[in-house]
Amino acid sequence: STTVSSQQDAFLKCLSASIPSQLVFTPSSASFTPLLKFSIRNPKFFSPSTVRPVVIVTPTNASHVQATVLCGRQSGLRIRVRSGGHDYEGLSYRAVRSEPFAVLDMSLLRSVRVDAQSATAWVDSGAQLGELYYAIGKASNLLGFPAGLCPTVGVGGHFSGGGFGMLLRKYGMAIDNVIDAVLVDAKGRLLNKNTMGSDVFWAIRGGGGESFGVVVSWQVRLVPVPPKVTVFNVPVTASQGAVDVVTRWQQVAPSLPEDLFIRVVVQQQTASFQSLFLGTCDALVPVMSSRFPELRFSRSDCREMTWIQSVPYIYLGSGSTVEDLLNRSNTASVLSTGNKATSDYVRQAIPRATWASIFSQLAQPNAGLMILDPYGGQIAAVPEAATPYPHRAGVLYNIQYMNFWSVATSDGAVQTKWIRDFYAFMAPHVSANPREAYFNYRDLDLGVNVVVGNVSSYQAGMVWGQKYFKGNYQRLAMAKAQIDPDDYFRNEQSVPPFAMSK
Ligand code: FDA
Repeated sequence: STTVSSQQDAFLKCLSASIPSQLVFTPSSASFTPLLKFSIRNPKFFSPSTVRPVVIVTPTNASHVQATVLCGRQSGLRIRVRSGGHDYEGLSYRAVRSEPFAVLDMSLLRSVRVDAQSATAWVDSGAQLGELYYAIGKASNLLGFPAGLCPTVGVGGHFSGGGFGMLLRKYGMAIDNVIDAVLVDAKGRLLNKNTMGSDVFWAIRGGGGESFGVVVSWQVRLVPVPPKVTVFNVPVTASQGAVDVVTRWQQVAPSLPEDLFIRVVVQQQTASFQSLFLGTCDALVPVMSSRFPELRFSRSDCREMTWIQSVPYIYLGSGSTVEDLLNRSNTASVLSTGNKATSDYVRQAIPRATWASIFSQLAQPNAGLMILDPYGGQIAAVPEAATPYPHRAGVLYNIQYMNFWSVATSDGAVQTKWIRDFYAFMAPHVSANPREAYFNYRDLDLGVNVVVGNVSSYQAGMVWGQKYFKGNYQRLAMAKAQIDPDDYFRNEQSVPPFAMSK
């Protein structure tokens, strides 16, 4: 339409004063589509009907980010920020409703500066987790960082939405270890922890960066890891007694020593017990035989390695190397596989009979999988209001549900229905009032914003906001009112502004 093209023209004209033209892409450029596609992890959001950006900007320094925000506001064009592009609903690069927007793609802003002496690092939002881990491993084999497993996840979305992985019982979440950040706000100001104010600094650590501005970089505290860690993966099939072992795991895993993390991936009729232990095999064997004999773990299951070696080993497989952590490109299988995910938190162990029923549902054609991440330890020691992420003490484990399909042969309707039906089936067995969910496993089925008078409604946002944030939703909305009262930074699940006086 003419408004779109005049907004786009005004935006481009404004940008041309501050940003080199080779960092700005419009759909008429041959590079536009490959650039848009390269970090899309869910190809269902790259279809002819997907609402796509009208401009992509790839900043190489913070001043480009500031200019993009100022030009966006001036020309009335909204921006969506993309770091690693792993958003489960694709909100960093597509809109649900038809609306013009630009994408600020952070992938060129990706330096990692590790200071082993002080055990801290500055990492830019456009770095992927693998690049952060790699740089830490280069600097010291006695330091690590507690964040997610998948090396191509972007730091920007991951940190601003929480972030957890195999070190969560020992060191909590990524956000629990963020000590400073650089943010560009809706006025184009470049702010740090002190100048953004304590409420906003609190909010961007778990409340979703996209609601508050653009996080350019993060300072993190690195954590000690021993020179040798031990990894194992023990599969147990239903016929080998998986129902009993998973039922027992619920009691055992959240109360193990913090050095021992055992997650479960349940798919079809197999439960795979995947573990990272911060110590040697000799130290692990007696813990397993006294605390979890039901798993029938044995010494031959141990794989000892350095922490940095364990990262690609666990996620990419035993044939992978530490250098693979730097690989940013999509694999063919990821590009052809659509997916749908959602999450739950379990506060009371699920009875054996229910597990038996879960296993029979996972045997259905087109069924998905479950990933169970045990809590307890440090993640539970942080008070619910200390960060926006409220799923802490009392949580036994987090469940992620996921289902996949080939986009070449399916529209995913059957697989998506399976997930929705299974989520309904699980309701009596998981947290309630609110039924808690993990913001980084974004699911628009939980609710979407309603815009009233050009501002997202606080009241309507409660539907999804309390599931992700429980009682922290209101404080997030107050931080939003401080930093972006006009609701410039918004998407289908951004935090709406809420001013107490209204
Ligand atoms: P993306 O760029 O899509 O951004 C996600 C959201 O954050 C968007 O709304 C975006 O606008 C906003 N955003 C991004 N950068 C920003 C910035 N610089 N400033 C402000 N806002 C910004 N999680 C986990 O905790 N542990 C895990 O092990 C995994 N594993 C995993 C594997 C795979 C294959 C996927 C697809 C996802 C995960 N996740 C995960 C979930 C992951 O943490 C979540 O999708 C993150 O938001 C992804 O961050 P990206 O920067 O990659 O996403």
